[in-house]
Amino acid sequence: MAPSTSSAITLNINGEKYMLPVDHRTTLLDALRERLDLTGTKKGCDQGQCGACTVLLDGRRAVACLQLAVAAEGRAITTIEGVADGDRLHPVQQAFIDLDGYQCGYCTPGQICSALAVIEEHAAGWPSAVTDDVRPEAGVPALTAEEIRERMSGNLCRCGAYVSIVKAVARAAEVTTSEILMPEASMPAATMSEDKESAA
Ligand code: FES
Ligand code: FES
Repeated sequence: MAPSTSSAITLNINGEKYMLPVDHRTTLLDALRERLDLTGTKKGCDQGQCGACTVLLDGRRAVACLQLAVAAEGRAITTIEGVADGDRLHPVQQAFIDLDGYQCGYCTPGQICSALAVIEEHAAGWPSAVTDDVRPEAGVPALTAEEIRERMSGNLCRCGAYVSIVKAVARAAEVTTSEILMPEASMPAATMSEDKESAA
C-alpha cells in the first residue's frame, strides 16, 4: 500500500483550534493564508530570507514559510491576527503606528511578531551577537539601537522604514512589561468555532 501523503491535523492558532486535512508538503504559511484565510501573515520570499511570514511558535519567532504545517501541530501559534486584545492594540502595534514604523506595511506583521519575541527575549536577559558582556552576572544588556537592529535583522523592509522600526521597538520595550507582552492567544482554546471548522 502506498504511504499516505496527507493527514488531518489540528492547529492551535491565536487561542482557537483549526482542523484541516493537509498534504504533508504544505507549509504553515500556505496553511494560514490559503486554507484558513489568515492573510495577515505575509509571503515575501518564500525562502526563509525576508521575515515577512514571521509568526510565534510557543512564543518563539519562526518563519512560517520554512515550517511544515504538520510539524506545527500541538504548538501554540500566534499570528498578527492574535496580537491585539479585541479593539485594543498591543503596545508594539501602537508604537509602530505612533512612530511611522512602516510605509507600505507589507513587512509589518512579521516585524511586529518579531518585535514581540525580541522584547521578551531581551527582558529575559538573552544575549545577542552584539552583546558585549555575555556573562550571566552582567545582567540584561541595554536595549540599544544596535541591539534592536541585530535582534530584528531577520526581518527585511523593502521600503527602508528601519529608522522608525528601531524607534518603535525601543518605545514598545519601554512601555511593555513581560506580563502584557505576549498575547493571551498563545493559549489554545478548548473549543473550535463552526466557522473555523468549515474552513477545513
Ligand atoms: S516569506 Fe518566509 S522568510 Fe520570506
Ligand atoms: S513597510 Fe514596506 S516593506 Fe516594510
